[in-house]
Amino acid sequence: MITTCVFDAYGTLFDVSAAAREAASLPGQQDWADKWPALAESWRSKQLQYTWLRVIMGDYMPFWEVTKDGLDWAMEAQGLDDPELRERLLALYWELSAYPEVPMMLAKLKSLGKKTAVLSNGSPDMLDGAVDSAVIGEWLDKVISVEEVGIFKPANAVYDLVGKHFGCAPNEVLFVSSNGWDAAGASQYGFNTVWVNRAGDPMDRLPAAPQHVLNDLTTISELVQ
Ligand code: LAC
Repeated sequence: MITTCVFDAYGTLFDVSAAAREAASLPGQQDWADKWPALAESWRSKQLQYTWLRVIMGDYMPFWEVTKDGLDWAMEAQGLDDPELRERLLALYWELSAYPEVPMMLAKLKSLGKKTAVLSNGSPDMLDGAVDSAVIGEWLDKVISVEEVGIFKPANAVYDLVGKHFGCAPNEVLFVSSNGWDAAGASQYGFNTVWVNRAGDPMDRLPAAPQHVLNDLTTISELVQ
């Protein structure tokens, strides 16, 4: 039986792209708004690459620092030298909204007696900022950061944190992520998994696959009853 529902943060509960689109649509931002899609893509991609590369190199640096490094690479690649824009883009990570279906989905899980948590690469203060800004803290039992183990997803030590915090077995956990590679890592670890594939991306070719693929979070509670 599923006792515990665990969610990835960025792109899963928190709508990073909406906040970024809003920043790009502010008056006076036309000059770089065209560059936005490529910038956003390479920022996210470098941010994630740097997490995996640091793991392989036996190094760790908080996700906030990795996020800044990824943005600096992406801005330089686009020929953007604009400290004010940099500050504004970084601030987005602290002012995120949840996807519209998130509050009801979490409230439903709580009404079914499930434990709920975030398990994220994010630094603890980044995660607290996003949970406050999205106003979803009342439905979350825990917000767990990889900072506790000093290694990034999809290392098993990260998924171990769920059992450490809740005392549950992997097969009692439903793990939900919009990152295909994170859902694959969690499947290999032994969690029940959902890949939230909002963009209709192809399945990652990795040693394990998610059990469920959904377009959004609206039907999560049906998987735990
Ligand atoms: C996280 C990233 C991977 O929240 O989205 O862990």
